[in-house]
Amino acid sequence: MIRNFQKSEQYRSRIHQLIPGGAHTYSKGDDQFPALAPAAIDYGKGAYVWDIDGNKFLDCSMGLSSVSLGHAYEPVLERVRKELERGVNFQRPSVIELEMAETFLGLVPCHQMIKFAKNGSTVTTAAVKLARAFTGRNLVAFPQEHPFYSYDDWFISQTACNRGVPEAIKNLSVTYKADNLESLTVLFEKYPGQIACVISEPEKNAGIPEAYLKKAIDLAHQHGALYIVDEMVTGFKTDFPGSIKKYNVEPDMATWGKGIANGFAFCALTGKKEVMELGGIKQKGSEKVFLISTTHGGETHALAAGLATIAEFRNKQVVAHNHAVGRYFIESLNSIINKASLGDYIEMANCDWMPIFTFKDKDKAVSPGMRTLMMQEMIARGVLFQGAFIPCFSHQHEDVDFFAAAFDSALNTYQEALNADYSQHLVGDPTAPVFRRYI
Ligand SMILES: Cc1ncc(COP(=O)(O)O)c(C=O)c1O
Repeated sequence: MIRNFQKSEQYRSRIHQLIPGGAHTYSKGDDQFPALAPAAIDYGKGAYVWDIDGNKFLDCSMGLSSVSLGHAYEPVLERVRKELERGVNFQRPSVIELEMAETFLGLVPCHQMIKFAKNGSTVTTAAVKLARAFTGRNLVAFPQEHPFYSYDDWFISQTACNRGVPEAIKNLSVTYKADNLESLTVLFEKYPGQIACVISEPEKNAGIPEAYLKKAIDLAHQHGALYIVDEMVTGFKTDFPGSIKKYNVEPDMATWGKGIANGFAFCALTGKKEVMELGGIKQKGSEKVFLISTTHGGETHALAAGLATIAEFRNKQVVAHNHAVGRYFIESLNSIINKASLGDYIEMANCDWMPIFTFKDKDKAVSPGMRTLMMQEMIARGVLFQGAFIPCFSHQHEDVDFFAAAFDSALNTYQEALNADYSQHLVGDPTAPVFRRYI
């Protein structure tokens, strides 16, 4: 059992004095993990990471799902090393930008233009801006239940954590019920001629109703709005390149990030020429949209990582491997949960690209305390678990077996906590929502 987090304690006591939140995304923060958890990772290889106390863990989240092939994955590193030797940033675009543009657009035939960035928020915000410019409308619509689209004000204004966002900005975003055409229809009727775009993840772990995506895109178009599919999470996971291929749909724009460069900072906005071109400089006399303009957007080695990642996905049937691991995971874990007769207390989404758990208390109510307890017990058994398992190319069936054995053993504590209370077993506090008003 892993219980040595001495260096982690020291790290924690120092980092919060220097970095607000102690991390560079709130979802990696201390309040998202139990007290008995590594505070910082030293290094990773394949599907495993080592923390600063030297503890080894099976990684289930793979850098917020950005590491789609594996940590320090050699074929990607090899390509990156070569590119590093040639310089990373120049006064004019690097030749690799054209290579990436052609390669990536080759994966997304419904789109003719692409723009690169370093973070997902940059591309989702750019898509919203283009939609506003194209339609001449102000409002942006997204599903109210979906967790995250951008750290920019247009999204954060709609969360509980909206301090610092002016009311005027908040009024420019409107929400509807996810995957619910009626709710989207009502929204368009409520704001006639005002909604510039709908931005939505194409599917969550629960899947979507038959033909929903196509109907939602048609609906937006009927009302003169654009439809943006955010493939940040689904890209390179549900299919290759993503759900727009799986469901055979043609949104006006799509946004890509996590997973497309095996953890390197490469994100992309793809879109139809007539929309994307508004950000160009070739249509003499037309009004210019100041689209993404960043010093590091074309950083050569990140593009090289992206090209190497795409090559691996193409040549090695990565998505098929990941889905097979996901299906084996679902089978193994369901059998353990059923054997322990805990089906009423632990649910798992039947989703081969990202099986995700819901943990409940003795009253069958969703319980952050029980979830955090399970994280604590899995971490103690060498699994860096945050409630989901995101298969990557380095995960093998044996890794699933390792996870399953740890889960089976951790269920003893879960069962005891069901009979009493999680607080008798959990060290520290349960995790707290990222989007909360008060700390
Ligand atoms: C669906 C979705 N869109 C956009 C983003 C923003 O991406 P980034 O953190 O790279 O800015 C995220 C990040 O979690 C996301 O899950």
